[in-house]
Amino acid sequence: MNLRRLADAEVAGKRVLLRTSLNVPLRADGTVADDFRLRRGLPTLEHLVRQGAKVIAVGYLGREGASLKPVADHLARLAPRIPLRFFGESPARAAEHTASLASGEVAVLENIRREAGEEANDPALAEVLASLADLFVDDAFAEAHRPYASNVGVAQLLPSYAGLLLEEEVARLSEALTPPPGAFAVVGGAKFETKQPVLRKLSTLYGRVAVGGALANDFLKARGLSVGASLVSDIPVPDDLAKSACLLLPTDVVVSSSRGGKRICRVDEIRSDETIVDNGPETSRAWSEEISKSSFVLWNGPLGVFEKDFTEGTDALASALSAASCRAAVGGGDTLAAIEKFSFEGDRVFRSTGGGAMLDFLAEGTLPALEPLRMPPL
Ligand code: 3PG
Repeated sequence: MNLRRLADAEVAGKRVLLRTSLNVPLRADGTVADDFRLRRGLPTLEHLVRQGAKVIAVGYLGREGASLKPVADHLARLAPRIPLRFFGESPARAAEHTASLASGEVAVLENIRREAGEEANDPALAEVLASLADLFVDDAFAEAHRPYASNVGVAQLLPSYAGLLLEEEVARLSEALTPPPGAFAVVGGAKFETKQPVLRKLSTLYGRVAVGGALANDFLKARGLSVGASLVSDIPVPDDLAKSACLLLPTDVVVSSSRGGKRICRVDEIRSDETIVDNGPETSRAWSEEISKSSFVLWNGPLGVFEKDFTEGTDALASALSAASCRAAVGGGDTLAAIEKFSFEGDRVFRSTGGGAMLDFLAEGTLPALEPLRMPPL
């Protein structure tokens, strides 16, 4: 995918609207719990500042319109040499402040999801955003699956470029869409209804696709097994997908019982009051073995109920990936948290900032916010 690159943009002295991912988890006290996305966005911010751009950073946080102030404060601490101010203003009211920005200064605007027109990609909001800047840089891969005014809308109105992180995400995940023979994909987490497209796509590209987490419950059920009281999706797995030859499902699982206690059992031995909470040790061994002989690994989604601390299956796979030597692309918050415990040499294992965006990119080969950044065909 050929995107217009930030490296080719003349930004010195220009007002640059930077769409960056500020959508990070917060602790109960409102401070940033995980700054991975912020750190991954720093190279673009630093490039713009070094080149003397006047940067107006735009992003959103959560779905309830929370203030971006703690995120902007955290960003300022991560980049202490960058003169960064939080304006806390709507774009319409920001113009008077942003006009006075000096070259190399950064202004962070308030949560753009507070604006009624953001999610509707309202042209009026896109116009207001465009009026703040001379050019637009989109670095927010994690939100590129959302066709909003602050990415798709404004990119159609200003000269627009892909930021350094966005460019890297697209390059590394494009690699995952052209896997070498002997590649292995692992998809976990829940919600078969949203993951069906990516599972279909991966089953055409990868020789082996392991399905874990709550997703596996749907596949086990589709194969006629009882999954007891386990979480299942509202829609059934179509027969052709459930029987796909490339699929690997857990052969043993950890189950917890409504009467208390947990045990390890084979997938055909689950009782009606039991819930699948993790991969069993035999499955972990088998999938780790697959990783050790893979030419490339793609992995998104945890293999157990992370929020209840069933992390052993996920941790086992992360450990296998750290012991392997193949290239890999990994995404999803819980999956990244699991691999965070291991170190990986060089750029062998790419950690995507995208959760939903990563899955949609893999399913579709593009995302709404990437389209306006494409170079015209020669
Ligand atoms: C994410 O966290 O996956 C993205 O930032 C998108 O967040 P959203 O689902 O709230 O749009």
